[in-house]
Amino acid sequence: MTAVDDLRRGLAEATGTDAADWYPVLKARYAMLEVFTALAERRGRSAVVTQALTCATAVDPIVEAGLRPVYADIDPGTYAIRPGAVAWEDGPSAAVIQHTFGVIDESSSAEIADAARRVGALVVEDSAHCAGRMARGTDGAPVADVSFHSFGIEKQLPTKFGGAVWLSPDLPGRELRSALADSLSSLPQPGARLAFAIKTYRLQRGVLNRLPRQISRPLERVLTAAGLFEPAVARAEVEGRLTRGALAIPDHVAAEVADALGRLESIEAGRTAAVDAYLEALGDAIGAPEHLAGQPLVRFPMLVPAGLDPESVISQLQAQGVYAGRWYRPVLFPGTDTPESYAYTPGDPSLATTHDVVARLVNLPTTVSPERARQIAGLALKAVAAQRAAA
Ligand SMILES: Cc1ncc(COP(=O)(O)O)c(C=O)c1O
Repeated sequence: MTAVDDLRRGLAEATGTDAADWYPVLKARYAMLEVFTALAERRGRSAVVTQALTCATAVDPIVEAGLRPVYADIDPGTYAIRPGAVAWEDGPSAAVIQHTFGVIDESSSAEIADAARRVGALVVEDSAHCAGRMARGTDGAPVADVSFHSFGIEKQLPTKFGGAVWLSPDLPGRELRSALADSLSSLPQPGARLAFAIKTYRLQRGVLNRLPRQISRPLERVLTAAGLFEPAVARAEVEGRLTRGALAIPDHVAAEVADALGRLESIEAGRTAAVDAYLEALGDAIGAPEHLAGQPLVRFPMLVPAGLDPESVISQLQAQGVYAGRWYRPVLFPGTDTPESYAYTPGDPSLATTHDVVARLVNLPTTVSPERARQIAGLALKAVAAQRAAA
């Protein structure tokens, strides 16, 4: 059995699906590119419903394929698009249900899937943050037609590369499904430079992290321009483009992901325990929806009270050695100088909840023990209180 077959089997075991329906790729964005390109070939420059509270690389494949992203506002309880906020009358060819931070809300996922099917739109699930988890209907079957999973940098597994897409055996349109199965099975492998960049990523990142910023920044740029270093998000990828066509997963990456998938349960249990500790320690002091409880989130989304500055909380936490982050501030993270290339209008009044969440968001790490999560929550609350006192 090849490493790729092993990975397909691991994904099938984690999700209770069939190994034959899984297609591993180098990065999830490449599987997305294949699916959206196939849709564009069949549906022209149609709309794809998605959310702005996301990574630019989740929207690049839509734009690169020649489709039109249309942003629906999110539900503050799920961080995913609110079923009632979608303009179905635009006749979208697809709707993306993104499990932001790994929050899966099965009831709104099923509602969006039903509404999408009624208008003939493909139901696309973005499980990039929760590899191996999918939204299920009341019958236990996955609600999506296609489901994307990422094993890339800072996702659920400690791997740095790899992605996969699951094609539902019931995917509407037999011809579309077999065309996708063909294209996803015959992707080229990375060329020599990229193969080198992948193999040496950890080493290069480690060295770059240890160098002073004034040296590491330009060095990273030079290495990236020479194709010897592979950044998590490339320059072109914040301008509505991808740097290359879709690529297959190398065997050694597939083997590493398959191995890490074997530890998925314990990784998820650790993250869930941290999430529950944050919820308990932060209580009502922050606007975290209750149903985050029991979910193995890739990061814990803490919302600072309106009017306060999350950046100051992040820098205070970082100064105390806490790996706090700012995923999805600004929108289309890490942010774009060309919002028009994403058909995104800054300040769009129809995205009020998205903008409110973005203005208050602090990510807390979930790869910590419950005890450490309680400590971090205490530090975060102190930073919020200090800001309040100074206001
Ligand atoms: C929500 C979301 N979707 C898709 C992707 C793309 O995943 P990959 O890095 O495997 O291409 C990302 C990456 O950060 C993401 O955050």
